[in-house]
Amino acid sequence: MQFELTEEHLMIQTAAREFAQNELKPGVIDRDEHQKFPAEQIKKMAELGFMGMMVDPKYGGGGMDTISYVLAMEEISKVDASCCVVMSVNNSLVCWGLEQFGNEEQKQKYLVPLAKGEKIGAFCLSEPEAGSDATSQRTTAIDMGDHYLLNGTKNWITNGSSASTYLVIAQTNVEAGHRGINALIVEKGMPGFTIGPKENKMGIRGSDTHSLMFDNVKVPKANRIGEDGFGFKFAMKTLSGGRIGIASQALGIASGAYELALAYSKERKAFGKEICKHQAIQFKLADMATRIEASRLLIYRAAWLKDQHLPLDKESAMAKVFASETAMWVTTEAVQVHGGYGYVKEYHVERLMRDAKITQIYEGTSEVQRIVISRAVLA
Ligand code: CAA
Repeated sequence: MQFELTEEHLMIQTAAREFAQNELKPGVIDRDEHQKFPAEQIKKMAELGFMGMMVDPKYGGGGMDTISYVLAMEEISKVDASCCVVMSVNNSLVCWGLEQFGNEEQKQKYLVPLAKGEKIGAFCLSEPEAGSDATSQRTTAIDMGDHYLLNGTKNWITNGSSASTYLVIAQTNVEAGHRGINALIVEKGMPGFTIGPKENKMGIRGSDTHSLMFDNVKVPKANRIGEDGFGFKFAMKTLSGGRIGIASQALGIASGAYELALAYSKERKAFGKEICKHQAIQFKLADMATRIEASRLLIYRAAWLKDQHLPLDKESAMAKVFASETAMWVTTEAVQVHGGYGYVKEYHVERLMRDAKITQIYEGTSEVQRIVISRAVLA
């Protein structure tokens, strides 16, 4: 067993940390307040190779392992969780899904620009009435011979308007249940495809979340990923690995809040001494550090399993549920350590607390993770 990061891992971690501190921190409060999509920052992240980190270099990616990705995600999320989710969806859902299950033509046409960060991708599964219950898809993709006719609405789509390439899950054969679902590559601008207004969210306000409407959109058969009826398994397999990304986002939010609370506790004085000298604060810091480290180890193990091509459904679900609940708890405590200052925007922890909440909801709620884990332990 090896617990040390390699030289390459440390270089990636340092590059991501410096980028986050120098390029993301200065405008993060403004982007959050005014819901500004971080377009310039994402462009720079693409130049650093962060948008297709794990993709094979022959498809324009960085050819890195999942641990490298986790390290970069944590550093970026410490400062700006909105940038982190754009990166997470592009890397672990869209690029990974296309690289694993797309054909050569799809990879050349769609994966290469996504991995280079020239384009952004979105993963479209959730619907007004199908969130956790993902088999209940109402969006239909009717087989018309050489194309599918796509109709329906998708909700809560991350990168909803900034994306150019959308992986859309839709029902082709209702009688076949989950075996009648397909995954289609849809391009922005296809006639009949419209993007709804931006959601006004509690957290990750820099990221653009939209509903998408499909009204008789003709999607060529060549844009179906895998065999007919593979769409649900495509979504499940992709999400299983994707949960490592959201767990890393949660880890970053937690460790960012912890670092701020630690620093503040050494500066702020109360009752004649720095508050870190009071046991009430020391115990909070100890619990924060312990839960963060436990999250990190769960995430590293899931990332390692992914790189070994070993089963990881249970482990990625454990990492996600633990890290996201840690993020919510740590950020709430970080606000408490800051007292009144924690409740105002300049100190960053209130934003991190708002950002933490979504990690318990998207890419499968905490309840969904517990379904996955309990099925595995009871099997
Ligand atoms: N890998 C491969 N196959 C899988 C699988 C996996 N991880 N999980 C399930 N399957 C297969 C099953 O084996 C089964 O196939 P067979 O019948 O051939 O055996 C089929 O899929 C159906 O599986 P279940 O019976 O387990 O399905 P279920 O209806 O009970 O649902 C669930 C299980 C875990 C709750 C699932 O619906 C789920 O994960 N829901 C949450 C969806 C989700 O994460 N949504 C997030 C949206 S994306 C997002 O948030 C992105 C973003 O913008 C940030």
